[in-house]
Amino acid sequence: MSEVWDGVYQSDNTFFGEEASSFATLCFNHMKSNDVKSVLEIGAGHGRDTMFLASNGLTVEALDYSSRGIEIINKKAIEKKLPVKSQLFDVKKPFPFQDTHFDATYSHMLLNMRFSRAELHSIFSEISRVLKPNGLNYFSVRNHNDQFYGAGVEVEEGIYDINGSEVRFFSEKEILDLINRESFTMVWMKEEYEEPVTLYLVASIKLEKNQ
Ligand SMILES: C[S@@+](CC[C@H](N)C(=O)[O-])C[C@H]1O[C@@H](n2cnc3c(N)ncnc32)[C@H](O)[C@@H]1O
Repeated sequence: MSEVWDGVYQSDNTFFGEEASSFATLCFNHMKSNDVKSVLEIGAGHGRDTMFLASNGLTVEALDYSSRGIEIINKKAIEKKLPVKSQLFDVKKPFPFQDTHFDATYSHMLLNMRFSRAELHSIFSEISRVLKPNGLNYFSVRNHNDQFYGAGVEVEEGIYDINGSEVRFFSEKEILDLINRESFTMVWMKEEYEEPVTLYLVASIKLEKNQ
C-alpha cells in the first residue's frame, strides 16, 4: 500500500497542505510546557507537521513507508536547514532506535490505517520502548463520529474499505484498551473535525510501573 501514498504525494507534494495541522499545534504547546526536546514522528507523510515541530526548535526523526513522502521531507529539511532526520520505514517492524531515546512520539492519522489489533499493540509496545520514562505519546485516529463510519465494506476485523482507502474507526474504549495495555496513562483526549474526517486527539504518558 505504500505505492498508494507514493502516488498521492507524487501527484501533489502538499496533499495535506503546507501548514501544520491544528493537532500538531496543540501538541507542540503541550510539549513546550513539558520540556520536550526530541520527537519521533511516525507516518509523517510529506512532513507538514515534521517541519512545524522542527522549525519550533525540536529535534525530529520522521518515519514513513512512502519513499516519495520521505524524499519531500528530506528536500524541505535541507532547504530550511532544519534538525530533521527521516527514514523510509514500515512501522510494523521494530523501530530503528535504542530504548528510551525520545522525549515524545507523535502520529497524526497513521494508526487508523490498515493495522490489525496485534500490529497496533506491537506499534504501541515499540513506542513505549523508545520513549524515556514519563515520555509523551501523542496520536490522532478517526472515530465513530466520522461521517464515513459504517460505510464501506469490512475487509478485515474492524477495518473498512471506504472508496479504496482502508480505515479503522476507534471508539473511546478501544483507545483506552490500547494505551492501558502498554502502560500508558491518558493525559487528555479531545475530538476534532479535520475536513473531511472526525478524529480523537490523544496525549498519553508512559508511567513507570511503580508510579
Ligand atoms: C493519512 S496519512 C497522514 C500523513 C501525515 N501524518 C499528515 O497528517 O500529514 C498516513 C501516512 O501514514 C503512512 N503509513 C501508512 N502505513 C504505514 C506503515 N505501515 N509504515 C509507515 N508509514 C505508514 C502513509 O504513507 C501516509 O504518509
